[in-house]
Amino acid sequence: MVKIAFNSALAQKAIAKEGEVLVAEKDPETASVYTNENSTGRCLLTLLGLAFILTGLIVGGACIYRYFIPKHKLYHGGMHFTEMDSNILPDTMETREPYYLPRIDEDLEIRDNMAIINVPVPEFAETDPAAILHDFDRKLTAYLDLQLDTCYVIPLNTSVVMPPRDLLDLFLQLMTASYNTYLIHEDLVVTERIDDVSELGFYIYELCEGKDTYRMQRRSDIIGIQKRSLGNCFKIRHFENKFVTETKICRA
Ligand SMILES: *[C@@H]1O[C@H](CO)[C@@H](O)[C@H](O)[C@H]1NC(C)=O
Repeated sequence: MVKIAFNSALAQKAIAKEGEVLVAEKDPETASVYTNENSTGRCLLTLLGLAFILTGLIVGGACIYRYFIPKHKLYHGGMHFTEMDSNILPDTMETREPYYLPRIDEDLEIRDNMAIINVPVPEFAETDPAAILHDFDRKLTAYLDLQLDTCYVIPLNTSVVMPPRDLLDLFLQLMTASYNTYLIHEDLVVTERIDDVSELGFYIYELCEGKDTYRMQRRSDIIGIQKRSLGNCFKIRHFENKFVTETKICRA
């Protein structure tokens, strides 16, 4: 063991003349006494230190895992689409170059019996970014318009929204192949304000809590109001099937 006598060195330095080279002093006697008397203590200290480091690593690792690895996997998918009539079959689009067609991208999360779709800010279209939640247990769909920070709820349309398992399969296909499809239009009208969001089930509550929330109906289902509202409408483009849906939401 080598103990460097700092005190002595410092003392020397204090009185040292300029230009004098100082060498740390070795003191074998002090070192050996120190070692004999404290070896057990030092060993324990080292073990304690190691235990601290290990604990730190484990806790740190757990924190990193918890905060940086998402609890539920997100699947990313994109589709090219043509804004033509929906009665043209998607197969007839194969001849068109996908490069020239607009593209829509979104993220999918499957949790329990639910599909959560995140629509990012579109690059070109005049449509809103949104988080869309399809709750297959409650049979409800909630659109959270991220631009308006407002929620819109409507009964789940199972002929448009694929079940979670099939949706996952679709996204897995989209990861490996490019897909050309068509656009359909959906015309929805805001009917009433929902004051108690908790009646919509836990997940929609989680999404819409603290936000203005409204109930909607398909325009074609509303008897009487058939005239088109001019202003106060916005659009969300999304897909949860093999075609893209443009949902137009209007305040009647
Ligand atoms: C579901 O959506 C399709 C296509 O937009 C529509 O024709 C049908 O009427 C909808 N069904 C319900 C129950 O709203």
